[in-house]
Amino acid sequence: MDSALPTTQTKTSETGTTRRDTVTITDNRTGKSYELPITHDAIRAMDLRQIKVHPEDFGMMSYDPAFNNTASCISRITYIDGDKGILRYRGYSIEELAEKSTYLETAYLLLRGELPTAAQLKDWQYNVTHHTFIHESIKKFLDGFHYDAHPMGMVISTIAALSTFYNDAKDIFNEESRRKQTYRLVGKMPTIAAFAYRHTLGMPYVYPDNDLSYPGNFLNMLFRTSEARYRPNPTLERALDILFILHADHEQNCSTNTVRGVGSSHVDPYSATAAAIAALYGPLHGGANEEVVRMLHEIGSVQKVPEFIKRVKAGETKLMGFGHRVYKNYDPRARIIKRVAYEVFDLMGKNPLLEIALECERIALEDEYFVKRKLYPNVDFYTGLIYQSMGFPTTMFPVLFAIPRMSGWIAQWEELLLDPEQKIARPRQIYLGYDTRSYAPIEQRL
Ligand code: CMC
Repeated sequence: MDSALPTTQTKTSETGTTRRDTVTITDNRTGKSYELPITHDAIRAMDLRQIKVHPEDFGMMSYDPAFNNTASCISRITYIDGDKGILRYRGYSIEELAEKSTYLETAYLLLRGELPTAAQLKDWQYNVTHHTFIHESIKKFLDGFHYDAHPMGMVISTIAALSTFYNDAKDIFNEESRRKQTYRLVGKMPTIAAFAYRHTLGMPYVYPDNDLSYPGNFLNMLFRTSEARYRPNPTLERALDILFILHADHEQNCSTNTVRGVGSSHVDPYSATAAAIAALYGPLHGGANEEVVRMLHEIGSVQKVPEFIKRVKAGETKLMGFGHRVYKNYDPRARIIKRVAYEVFDLMGKNPLLEIALECERIALEDEYFVKRKLYPNVDFYTGLIYQSMGFPTTMFPVLFAIPRMSGWIAQWEELLLDPEQKIARPRQIYLGYDTRSYAPIEQRL
């Protein structure tokens, strides 16, 4: 048996049988067997490299487009059990956090690993609040965007531009510097998002009010007009805070994988998180909430839902806000959001698209196509309806996802930097292109 591996673990069970935590792979091309260690139900892809037909071969790789079954890191931040519909941040259930916590407290938990004491929370809130203002030149930068620029495009560019304002951010292995950039990023996200929104309306920017809560101040910067002092509606303020908690982190999704991938080159956190926001912008990720509302408008009425579902089943279109790479059960965030939606509708009036959404859900949950594929509503299915009822235009929906996800991205970025096993992200490929070809002069090309 060929094995260049460290000694494998042997365990004795209660019944006295011994169990080896290994897997044996037989290469039928050569007849050779290899014993690979299993740790946390995984084998190391690098352990496959010893499997070769000829000594000079490169060695075996695993092929996993879109990372369907590849763990790229060890993480202690967020846990998801997709089959059971469980989501926990640092061990705390999302249901309990949504009920008892605030977004800023949850962000602290994600970033520091523990719930804060009262003194720690006060300090954290003070520091975030005192980094909400942005440099006046950033305002000018935002002014340069066309009036109908998508706010997500503005936020991506502005967060990237922050790296040119804070040269100290390049000192990524300095804990003090990382902490400072964290205050700035978490503090300035709502300001930049609100300024982008006001720019699209051609309205004057509203400066942060440091006496308001994190979501309350955001509402102030978005919606304040001529009031001397803006007072956020407590129901909307709390609804937004819950939505922020639910969106704060979601382990290795597309944008988190991006912040880790870009961050692995040791670029500053503004550049890395700008890349993550760009990843979130796509309609298959954080842009789905915008697409859901467009889809519900397109369907138009409850009576037309069966016809639309028929088109989905024929593969002509997707039921946006349904399906998830990890959840094969009801997304626990969607369940909480549905409850929050009713609280907002009680105050603002029922969103006329709600009946269409409920009918889509009812049919999909019973229909063989969706049941077989385990397609359930995800976080984006009902958020758009809430945001719309709160007065946000659809283009702001993905921005509302990006604001709270900032804390998760920074937590994941920091975990990556401090993980001695991590290196620059650099996947392999299977090359199936041409072998060597001779360069033909242009006059000889067909
Ligand atoms: N409508 C109709 N069919 C679907 C849908 C949908 N929304 N989602 C998946 N399917 C089908 C898909 O066609 C495939 O069918 P088949 O096996 O016959 O080829 C099967 O279900 C498996 O889907 P998949 O594309 O292999 O799944 P995935 O893990 O690659 O994609 C997803 C996950 C979220 C991108 C996908 O479900 C989707 O496009 N959903 C709509 C967009 C959406 O709501 N995105 C928000 C995700 S949650 C928030 C976030 O994290 O950003």
